[in-house]
Amino acid sequence: MDLKRIEDQFSVGIYQKRDLSIVRGQGARVWDEAGREYIDCVAGVGVANVGHCNPAVVRAIQEQAARLITCNELFYNDARARCLERLDRITPEGIDRFFLCNSGTEAVEGAIKFARMATGRKRVVAAMRGYHGKTLGSLSATWDKKYREPFAPLVPDFAHVPYNNAAEFDKAIDQQTAAVILEPVQGEGGVRPASPEFFQAVRKACDDRGALLILDEIQTGFGRTGRMFACEHFGVLPDILTMAKGIAGGIPMGAIGIDRRVGELEKQSHTSTFGGNPLACAAAVATLDFLVQQDLPRQSAEKGAYFMGRLRDMGSPRIREIRGLGLMIGIELKEKAGPIAQAMLREGVLVLLAGTTVLRFLPPLVITREEIDTVVSALARVLAAPPASTAE
Ligand SMILES: Cc1ncc(COP(=O)(O)O)c(C=O)c1O
Repeated sequence: MDLKRIEDQFSVGIYQKRDLSIVRGQGARVWDEAGREYIDCVAGVGVANVGHCNPAVVRAIQEQAARLITCNELFYNDARARCLERLDRITPEGIDRFFLCNSGTEAVEGAIKFARMATGRKRVVAAMRGYHGKTLGSLSATWDKKYREPFAPLVPDFAHVPYNNAAEFDKAIDQQTAAVILEPVQGEGGVRPASPEFFQAVRKACDDRGALLILDEIQTGFGRTGRMFACEHFGVLPDILTMAKGIAGGIPMGAIGIDRRVGELEKQSHTSTFGGNPLACAAAVATLDFLVQQDLPRQSAEKGAYFMGRLRDMGSPRIREIRGLGLMIGIELKEKAGPIAQAMLREGVLVLLAGTTVLRFLPPLVITREEIDTVVSALARVLAAPPASTAE
């Protein structure tokens, strides 16, 4: 089957695709049509935290699919109840009620609505370089002009303030502010961790002015940064937590967690046909149990430190900076990152970009040290080659 031609012909063509068809995955590896193996530091863009086709998740999906696939939240359901209990157990203290949905951007949409509903205020303060999704509400919080300007006017009353700048946030948060929305580590914006002092100062400004703090842990959640949720690094608790990506082992799912402060929400003011469906919930239960049983957050911290150490030891003059937390790692290059990612693909390693000069690594948390060694050796070879030979 000429699957590339078919996809190119019949999809709207809006994605910037790489010339690779992936047809199978296991753990931290994927295979193309010809059977060639790759180490996958893309992982569906930070989704396959428990590994591709994790056997416990596969089993849970198979069993649930044979029993009940769809059940709207008009009714109660056993898989959903189990999923909600698990989320309550692993999310930060105070987050104890959840709205289930189907993607990251949908979680952010709901979070913004809940914040406006709870406070009766409109204004949302977001960060420069922040990324929260591309539907109109979350796009209003996303910073990059190239995504926003073609669709203006967006939702009014959104402000963008420099990340990690406590004084600017303090000025921007006022008595009209419904919420501040922040990523603990900016992902799409270049893998930039927040400083604990910044997070603590924003938390205090929100408390002082009655604004809610929405932490967007869609990319940083579920062990990615070396803790179950990245806010645990800073000792800061959110009022609203958005989750997606790694939550259900690869099955589409998002969730919004809320603290008591959010209060009671108006019935039917936010709904989703597929939200809380039994198939996704069963996959989430298996995923979250595996994360806890294998202590993947700790593994992520240890393997991330090892990975970053190996990268630092490489000491390439073409690298400007290596940064990240756990297995969320960015390498800022002194040149465009696209050709390097292409050269890595030829070496059998899949990596992401985060902006024009940053290579981003979001491997499954089950990646082995040997696989990390292979990735680092491939990068060392690519960066040792003259720049012209890494170009397309
Ligand atoms: C921090 C953050 N928020 C929101 C989103 C949007 O999620 P989705 O692509 O599932 O809509 C992403 C996706 O990369 C993200 O990284």
